[in-house]
Amino acid sequence: MTQPVRVAITGAAGQIAYSLIFRIASGDMLGKDQPVILQLLDIPDSLEKLKGTIMEIDDCAFPLVQGIIGTSDAEEAFEGVKYAMLVGARPRGPGMERADLLQANAKIFSVQGKALSSKADSDVRVLVVGNPANTNALITASNAPKLDPKQITAMTRLDHNRALSQLAAKTGAHSTDIEKLMIWGNHSASQYPDLTHATVKGKAASSLVDQEWVEKDFIPTVQQRGAAIIKARGASSAASAASSAVDHMRDWAKGSDGQWVSMAIPSDGSYGIKPGVVYSYPVVTKGGQYEIVKDLPIDSFSRGKMDATDQELREERAAIEDLLK
Ligand code: NAD
Ligand code: LMR
Repeated sequence: MTQPVRVAITGAAGQIAYSLIFRIASGDMLGKDQPVILQLLDIPDSLEKLKGTIMEIDDCAFPLVQGIIGTSDAEEAFEGVKYAMLVGARPRGPGMERADLLQANAKIFSVQGKALSSKADSDVRVLVVGNPANTNALITASNAPKLDPKQITAMTRLDHNRALSQLAAKTGAHSTDIEKLMIWGNHSASQYPDLTHATVKGKAASSLVDQEWVEKDFIPTVQQRGAAIIKARGASSAASAASSAVDHMRDWAKGSDGQWVSMAIPSDGSYGIKPGVVYSYPVVTKGGQYEIVKDLPIDSFSRGKMDATDQELREERAAIEDLLK
């Protein structure tokens, strides 16, 4: 029988985890033949609620679940894990400024970076979902000296999937008909959903939609989708965030089959984005690795948007610079 792999999920009593854990447990992320041990982390105040989630996991009698740990100790949660999904984060409280939020989360992710570095499998793959996700990933990496920063990524796959479905609806196609769509930059309203290279059933997307729709509808809808969901549901996206987290990790672990997907990864100078931030790029994944899609021509409209989201990431970085090693 295949040996189980250990998967950590933080924020395990929260609403994203309430969908994510069950998707992983049923084999949607690592395959229907891959047993898992779930290592669930939350803060002490949420442990009672986490007990309820664990009772429900038990009650599903999932064939692939070989063990469950619920804890508020990050080192225990990350012991031996091959995959870590960092979902738990501090939400913005009343009167909290953006810089306070960045600082509060930076502290959480410094602790978790250290714990991952000392306890996780040396080949661990880490996905940060908790906001501000890109900068939280940067902090995690800078506190994890034993890990390669490339092992620590942030989620823009939800933005990517949102962009796919907006373009599909506009062109009367299905999301699976679309290729070469991408998200650049930050998981925030400054992100740049870029369809200039995209195709729909093999045809250039830019020949099927007009630039006014791209600028006045497509880009702002994708950028503002998270806020629109919060307004409508009274809570932030949860099942769709969990589904995109499954997509991100599944493709990273098992390959994207030649498809371009979006992942926020350490910038390496590609496309003029200097090292020092975690920036979303188009990537292809294969054999457990990701590679940036290189040498795409960038027009001046795209350049401006790519630089603006880079600028925001550098401002976020400046707000937590003291916590970077
Ligand atoms: P939630 O409030 O329902 O759950 C968060 C959980 O995290 C809570 O159980 C809380 O106790 C826990 N937590 C807080 N601090 C923790 C810590 N130090 N260690 C472990 N757990 C901790 O929130 P949610 O709806 O599940 O969202 C979680 C995060 O994901 C938020 O930051 C949200 O903004 C973000 N998010 C990101 C994306 C994305 O695309 N990247 C999409 C949606 C939501
Ligand atoms: C989303 O994109 O749905 C979330 O990141 C929104 C949020 O602020 O939690």
